[in-house]
Amino acid sequence: MNGCPNDISMSMAGETSQMKNPLMSNVFVTSDGRAIDLIPGWFEQKVWPLGAKSYQEFVDRVIDPQVNEESSHDDEVYPKSPVFFLRKLITPEAILQVLEESMIHFEGPVTLLDIGSGAAIIPRVLKLLGVCDAAYGVDIQDRSGDFSDQALTELISEVTRTLLQDEQSDVMKLLRGGDGVSTWTVPFSLPFVADMNRNLSMDGYYVSDFLKFDGAGRQYDLITTYAGLCYFDIRDYFEKVASLLNRGGVHYLMDTNYYHYYGESLELPLDAPWLHARVTRDDLFRYYREHHPDLESYVERGFFQKSSHCAVKNVIACAREFGLEALSYRRSYKTDELEKMHYRSGANLKFILQKVLTDCQAINPHVTYLDLISKAWTIVFKKAS
Ligand SMILES: C[S@@+](CC[C@H](N)C(=O)[O-])C[C@H]1O[C@@H](n2cnc3c(N)ncnc32)[C@H](O)[C@@H]1O
Repeated sequence: MNGCPNDISMSMAGETSQMKNPLMSNVFVTSDGRAIDLIPGWFEQKVWPLGAKSYQEFVDRVIDPQVNEESSHDDEVYPKSPVFFLRKLITPEAILQVLEESMIHFEGPVTLLDIGSGAAIIPRVLKLLGVCDAAYGVDIQDRSGDFSDQALTELISEVTRTLLQDEQSDVMKLLRGGDGVSTWTVPFSLPFVADMNRNLSMDGYYVSDFLKFDGAGRQYDLITTYAGLCYFDIRDYFEKVASLLNRGGVHYLMDTNYYHYYGESLELPLDAPWLHARVTRDDLFRYYREHHPDLESYVERGFFQKSSHCAVKNVIACAREFGLEALSYRRSYKTDELEKMHYRSGANLKFILQKVLTDCQAINPHVTYLDLISKAWTIVFKKAS
């Protein structure tokens, strides 16, 4: 995590469940009467990814281009470098593992749809790995040209060559670091488990809002979404996924976790840890109005999640309503974050378990401690045969 918090236990001393005068003290009072202490220095230590110097810049340069249909894909800062894509090579192997461990076996040729496909690295490598026979992608922006088939093939060959030559190579270090989103560190073994003679080209890449996508006239055996659920209302999303899946079809879903310190991909500036999760959405906007009026309009643009306060249990329950049963799930954690934050002191742990979790559960009773510590989660769903 950027700007990882250090000692948060000091916030426990002053925090009580009684109302405090919000004008007198450094406190935010929720509409259900809970007082949340704002921690001096917490706001200032936040650092944004991709070199953004402020939340305002982060919204303008990173979030807006990702969620705004009209914006220019060419102007955005979404990474396009081979190093970024190199890390993405790990992800399909992780997906393969999760599917295998969930005892997924397809009969006959498998047709894949990848939602929010981006540069389509994941579906193309899934094809190489033999997970699917045909791969289609849908994305609201056309990123299909970001990394050509030839560039992807060359990258895999180059990585393989370098990696096998010297295990201390820079490539090895990058791969060990995971892909930055999942924090998985699955060993890169593509050259051993993939048939490099397979055709890795996409069979179709559709530029469309997924919710308006008609499936291009087909049903799919496997639908994958990697870091994409957050853009949708989760009911609309699962209804659409269920409608496009064949009977017995499988949905692999990985998303960043709203309950991570700063709302994970939202990267919210906050005056207290997990503040966004401890208050309702309306209260969060009131907090900005009262404490950071200069940020309010930015948060309105930057808070792109249609469904907020979704814990893993909520996601599983929502999918079930549309006939998708969860077969397995896993979470990813960053050990350095856990060491610096949760397990830095008993007081920190007590604060998180007794104060933060209780506040979060006042808004959503389904939140668990694991929601507070995980960075991302993955769930595999199956539609009844
Ligand atoms: C965080 S990126 C992930 C890209 C890709 N899955 C990967 O892991 O490399 C999210 C992608 O979702 C796309 N996206 C956002 N809103 C969408 C929508 N309503 N319909 C389809 N795609 C969308 C964005 O354009 C972006 O390419």
